[in-house]
Amino acid sequence: MNFTPEEREIGKQNFQDAVGVSRRAFLKTAAVTPALGAFYFGYQKLTGKPVKVGFIGTGDEGSVLLTQHPPEYMEIVGLADLRPSNRRRALTGDGNDDRVGLIKKLGHKTATNIKQYADHHELLKDPEIEAVVIAVPLNVHASVTIDALKKGKHVLCEKLMAHNITECKEMIRVAKETGKLLAVGHQRHYSVLYDNANDLVKQGVLGDIKFIRASWHRNNSFPNSDSWVKSIAGEDKKDLDTKVSQYGFDDLNQLVNWRLFNKTGGGLMAELGSHQMDACSIFLGKVHPLAVQGYGGKNFYHVKGVGSKDKQNDPREIDDHVYVTLEFPGKHYDEDKNDIVIVTYSSINTNRMEPYGETIYGSRGTLVTEKEQSMMLYKEAGGDSGSGGPGQRLRLVQAAAGGGGAVLQASPSSAPATAAAANASDEKVSRGYTEEMEHFAWCIRNNIRQDTPIEEHGLRCPGKHAMADAIMAITANLAMKHKKRIVFKEAWFDPNDPAAPETDPDVIG
Ligand SMILES: NC(=O)c1ccc[n+]([C@@H]2O[C@H](COP(=O)([O-])OP(=O)(O)OC[C@H]3O[C@@H](n4cnc5c(N)ncnc54)[C@H](O)[C@@H]3O)[C@@H](O)[C@H]2O)c1
Repeated sequence: MNFTPEEREIGKQNFQDAVGVSRRAFLKTAAVTPALGAFYFGYQKLTGKPVKVGFIGTGDEGSVLLTQHPPEYMEIVGLADLRPSNRRRALTGDGNDDRVGLIKKLGHKTATNIKQYADHHELLKDPEIEAVVIAVPLNVHASVTIDALKKGKHVLCEKLMAHNITECKEMIRVAKETGKLLAVGHQRHYSVLYDNANDLVKQGVLGDIKFIRASWHRNNSFPNSDSWVKSIAGEDKKDLDTKVSQYGFDDLNQLVNWRLFNKTGGGLMAELGSHQMDACSIFLGKVHPLAVQGYGGKNFYHVKGVGSKDKQNDPREIDDHVYVTLEFPGKHYDEDKNDIVIVTYSSINTNRMEPYGETIYGSRGTLVTEKEQSMMLYKEAGGDSGSGGPGQRLRLVQAAAGGGGAVLQASPSSAPATAAAANASDEKVSRGYTEEMEHFAWCIRNNIRQDTPIEEHGLRCPGKHAMADAIMAITANLAMKHKKRIVFKEAWFDPNDPAAPETDPDVIG
């Protein structure tokens, strides 16, 4: 959405005002409050010893998680990564503020005392380790998770849960069999910002929602601008060139550039779209979608002579542009089959005019989320007052008795946003990684079960929920591949039923 700076600021202030004074305090302190998750989600802060944890996969995302891990909740005992360059980076960081390295975070002595392994099997032999955080390429999520569960470790695995749904079901089955927790890293479940937004949606502030537009647009057409294409470090070549096939990769290039290949990655829907489909399904009350269709193509990287000079030789198999339409049931779908909510999703590689986010269009208001950092709220113009639109300050009022939930009203006395207010609301907020790891550790120490409900402080993204996200992403990929509208089947969402979209004759036939 292209707003003027004033309109953006008005939208942010509208959101904060609507969230309310008590909740607004959380937003303001979200960047700095230790144990924010416990404070916000209402469970007791961890007392006693931190959980002893191993990290498997210390690449880009593993390094972010190491940087953001909460030492009061987790004591890191071991690290495993096949690549020497990434084992080193875990300690030293890489100059990026999001990945400062454990030496800076924990001090030289503590960081260098952490045991380092190449092979995750060796790490899993350590009886001291109670739980692991896994951030390896998608094709090995299931095998590494299952190895860990079978060794008696609780698992927090990065998203997408697995490369296919049969693997997701196996992961859930083994977690149940071993009695260990299986959590998946869709961090929006632990984002205070998203939880506040969801609260407004649940109160009915936006009115009747019929459409959500989500997107993640990047521009990789400039030379060397594609963050998914990485060079191979000399030390990794020396160490791994001949060994890599035993770990599930055809060669070293596939290990390093796993996102580009169908065997190892799941394309834009798995990497980016899954987070946003997850967010949309939460906003719609965690319902399962009804159907999906879409178009996906390698529309840019096949064109010769444009952008990167190596582009014509680019070996990628995944699509670089995807456009997907999902049908979700509306609130009254059970009584009226016309009550459908449409979610559109696009992820492209040749333009980033719009940052990534989701826009929820309701009959009374619009909520705009941006880059997991900002939320903006606007009232629809019309009704008795006629006022509204992106330039209008709002306040939230409770509807009269019997009138339903809260409603937005234009606020006649409010002045336009000031520069000082604009700065205040631009504070960086937590994306949820730290809160996710805190809660995972808290669940372990408090004997929370895999199926403990969220209301009783159970995992906010357990295997079963994460599998639903994987079903959306993977079925969208299948719809694009087979060029058809696919109707979701409830059996796919049932962990005890072997049915899966990737093996369903109605999908692949
Ligand atoms: N939650 C998020 O927002 C988010 C963001 C980025 C990535 N991710 C996810 O995190 C995961 C990792 O992504 P990344 O960007 O860090 O990839 P990456 O390639 O930078 O790092 C993956 C690391 O795993 C290592 N590895 C592979 N197999 C291993 C094994 N058997 N034992 C030990 N190490 C092994 C590799 O050597 C590599 O260093 C992916 O599933 C990705 O989707 C999540």
